[in-house]
Amino acid sequence: MNLELSETQTLIRDTARKFARERVAPHATRFDREEHFSPELYRELASLGLMGVNIPAKYGGAEAGVLSYSLAMMEMAAACASTSVTMAVTNMCAELIHTYGTDAHREKFVTRLTSGDAVAGSFALSESHAGSDPRAMRTTAVRRGDTWVLNGSKQWITSGAYAGVMVVWAQTGGQGSKGISAFIVEGGTPGLHVGKHEDKMGLRASNTVALTFEDCAIPADNLLGKEGDGFKLAMIALDGGRIGIASQACGVARAALEASVRYSKDRKAFGQAIGEFQGLRFMMANMATELQAAELLTFRAAYLKEQGKPFTREASMAKLFASEMSNRAVDKAVQIHGGYGYIDEFPVERYFRDARVQTIYEGTSEVQRLVIARETFKLLD
Ligand code: CAA
Ligand code: FAD
Repeated sequence: MNLELSETQTLIRDTARKFARERVAPHATRFDREEHFSPELYRELASLGLMGVNIPAKYGGAEAGVLSYSLAMMEMAAACASTSVTMAVTNMCAELIHTYGTDAHREKFVTRLTSGDAVAGSFALSESHAGSDPRAMRTTAVRRGDTWVLNGSKQWITSGAYAGVMVVWAQTGGQGSKGISAFIVEGGTPGLHVGKHEDKMGLRASNTVALTFEDCAIPADNLLGKEGDGFKLAMIALDGGRIGIASQACGVARAALEASVRYSKDRKAFGQAIGEFQGLRFMMANMATELQAAELLTFRAAYLKEQGKPFTREASMAKLFASEMSNRAVDKAVQIHGGYGYIDEFPVERYFRDARVQTIYEGTSEVQRLVIARETFKLLD
């Protein structure tokens, strides 16, 4: 693995960094307080190629690869985790449709995601009783003439109230994991209802809603991949998605570390900067070391994916380690800020709230350990 960034990777990282610092970071506190979701902001992100970083230029993407995507996610998350999760799910949907869809799907749906016309993408897998265990989903899709008719409800769907393009999973009959299929559903389709907006602890500027499908008829052509392949497609997409969330965790942890170093240089106690106390310096030394370990795990998973090599295990390792690391980092950052870490005058209380979900979504830490154990046992069979 080459640790020197290519010209393309540097360009994407710098583009994302500039946008994140100039257009996102100055507003992140307000976005969080007001739960503000800005379609315009996401259209701007799309215009920079950041809604399809690993999608060919032919379909409006940046064609810059997985490592570039990870770097861009780190930059966006360091400014605003809410913006980065919207970006992550949109990239994940665009890649899934690009890889497993038909040419017509790519022309019609991938370009809507990469251009910003769709605002965002949604990945509608989880249900109220089926998060870690999506095979237990109850949403159904029944073939009627030249349509599929969807009935059921999805829970916690990121960007669900805004997404012009969604991938939705449903039971279509068939044995075991072969009973689930994936469908492309356009926002605004009759029979698709946007439900309750979740009042979240963190990521308050991202949109998280329930979706209900009531006799929601979509064209038969909107089946993604083959009937019965849906569960596998979800797992494959989540392998890539977990690189995105690992990157998000690294970005938030980096912001927490940088804020801590800055604050500890300024804040005085007992006649000296608190950053001179060895107790705090050791905290920041640990944060910096663990952050770098998480970045390297994440880059390795991204590299393997980019090379077309198996990366399921490495993506789960990166997501597990990075998300737990970022929770340790934001906790220390609040501690280093003392009372100021607990109020919203400084951004670390937002980082603390935003990081918490990282060990839960796109597979909990327990699910990542199941995957890592399964893949490790396979390797040693
Ligand atoms: N790649 C390809 N195929 C895979 C695969 C992978 N990574 N993982 C599993 N499969 C295949 C298996 O080979 C198996 O195939 P066969 O039936 O042909 O043998 C089939 O899928 C079923 O596999 P398992 O028996 O391992 O499946 P399981 O039901 O035991 O579940 C699990 C395994 C890892 C726990 C899985 O259910 C899982 O990942 N759960 C977590 C779900 C999740 O991450 N949800 C996130 C929602 S999106 C989100 O959260 C977005 C956001 O926050 C922003
Ligand atoms: P459960 O599955 O009920 O788990 C509860 C606890 O039991 C956890 O600690 C879990 O690790 C543990 N557990 C479960 N099974 C096992 C096991 N076999 N071994 C050991 N421990 C186990 N979903 C989407 O589809 N699309 C989205 O866009 C999306 N966005 C989200 C955004 C936010 C802000 C949030 C909070 C969630 C989002 N989700 C989304 C849902 C998310 O993926 C699920 O919450 C997550 O997968 C966990 O599922 P659950 O909440 O049902 O927890």
